[in-house]
Amino acid sequence: MRSLRLFLILFFLPLPAMAFAEVKQAKTIDELSRMYDVSSCKTCHAKIFEEWEQSLHAKSLIGTPRTLGGMTGFFKSLMTSEYPESGVKDAKDFKKEHVWACAKCHLPQLEHATDDVAREIVKAVLDQDQNTLKKVGINCLICHNEKAIIHKWQDGMPKKDTVYGPNKEGAHGDKMYNKVKKSLIMKESAMCGQCHGLGPNFEMPQPTQCATLYGSYLHAYVPNGGTETCQDCHMNKAEDHKSHKFPAYRDPDMAKKAVTVEVDTHGYQFLPRTGDLIPTAMLTVKLKSNAGHRIPDG
Ligand code: HEC
Ligand code: HEC
Ligand code: HEC
Ligand code: HEC
Ligand code: HEC
Repeated sequence: MRSLRLFLILFFLPLPAMAFAEVKQAKTIDELSRMYDVSSCKTCHAKIFEEWEQSLHAKSLIGTPRTLGGMTGFFKSLMTSEYPESGVKDAKDFKKEHVWACAKCHLPQLEHATDDVAREIVKAVLDQDQNTLKKVGINCLICHNEKAIIHKWQDGMPKKDTVYGPNKEGAHGDKMYNKVKKSLIMKESAMCGQCHGLGPNFEMPQPTQCATLYGSYLHAYVPNGGTETCQDCHMNKAEDHKSHKFPAYRDPDMAKKAVTVEVDTHGYQFLPRTGDLIPTAMLTVKLKSNAGHRIPDG
């Protein structure tokens, strides 16, 4: 009897406010967007903010807009007989797990939202409603809070009041995020590897495969003697420091550096009959990829 009472007391003991804050689930896209609001960052980090706004990270549900196209096709096909066991017959049947097939990397904050938000995203995708989809994306807080700690059993969960950067420790001018801490992985390729893919996402009930570039970085570039990190090539190169724009092949400077082409020509003549002149050449073309991974990807 006593243990039952103890059990009841424990069961009804109110959870501390923090625990509720931790498990808070956004119920609408607008609420999710407010939970990850980065408008304050612009005041003090104006240049980085502008660069980020021009990056594909800032519109990760839209892309070029090939991502929007890809998601439209995927969500439509889930409603057809192509996936008879998906549990989805029409738009109202979508749950988080269906959208997670892409959101794992294109919108990881969906983890902190309800199935209603997943359905709102599906609707916006099917309606090609870019204004709604632009409200959420891979922003400052995804990289400088949520994805800034990988080894959580050693280093703890990212804290609600802290931004994690490459260098600084101490107080931070932001009202909500009033502390700054050094992240142990911010300068490591593994930071990017969290979304830039190792291969198929086997943990999903219906594995998807999109970006696999971190896999080829780890298993081909590094073993062949590559020493640069993703950040070295995509953020920090001294000659074209573009930092938070995250340039890739759409950037002329990056595209120029991507491949070294060596062409060797050796001309000779081939004379089958006296008087015939058929100029001939031997051509040797060597292409060397200078990217730290296979190209193209995604
Ligand atoms: C009131 C001004 C202010 C606001 C608002 C602000 N920051 Fe900062 N932040 C700073 C200053 C100053 C530093 C120290 C940077 C320095 O000396 O380069 C800093 C440092 C950082 C660092 C660490 C840099 C490093 O080298 O380790 C990160 C990451 C960062 N801020 C992200 C953010 C994000 C994300 C937001 C929005 C949520 C934000 N900041 C809002 C002023 C601000
Ligand atoms: C939270 C997941 C996530 C993290 C972390 C992340 N990325 Fe991305 N990145 C994406 C997604 C998703 C896209 C594609 C957006 C789109 O076009 O839909 C992208 C796009 C890019 C692009 C543009 C590719 C192009 O085709 O132009 C580059 C470059 C890039 N990321 C580099 C990096 C680097 C370097 C890091 C680490 C410092 C990093 N990313 C961290 C998810 C992430
Ligand atoms: C493992 C993480 C991951 C998953 C899961 C994922 N993506 Fe991606 N996706 C990325 C990254 C990172 C990029 C950008 C980098 C690149 O092109 O290599 C990208 C790029 C794309 C692109 C090309 C973007 C452009 O604008 O050129 C499309 C289209 C796309 N993803 C659609 C999808 C769809 C649809 C799903 C779900 C069925 C999905 N992705 C699942 C990480 C992922
Ligand atoms: C895709 C991940 C990603 C996003 C999104 C992102 N950052 Fe960063 N940021 C990084 C990484 C990685 C570094 C460290 C680069 C290095 O030192 O090699 C960095 C460095 C910084 C620094 C310190 C270096 C410097 O140049 O002063 C600040 C401050 C910062 N980011 C602020 C921001 C703000 C503000 C936003 C949003 C507007 C933002 N970041 C968005 C990944 C990201
Ligand atoms: C040695 C320099 C170098 C390193 C290291 C490197 N990259 Fe790249 N990356 C490039 C170049 C150059 C391109 C442009 C290739 C092109 O023009 O097709 C590129 C292209 C990309 C693209 C676009 C690929 C596509 O086809 O859609 C993404 C995304 C990307 N890199 C992310 C990363 C990430 C994440 C890492 C770390 C795991 C990384 N890169 C490491 C140089 C590098």
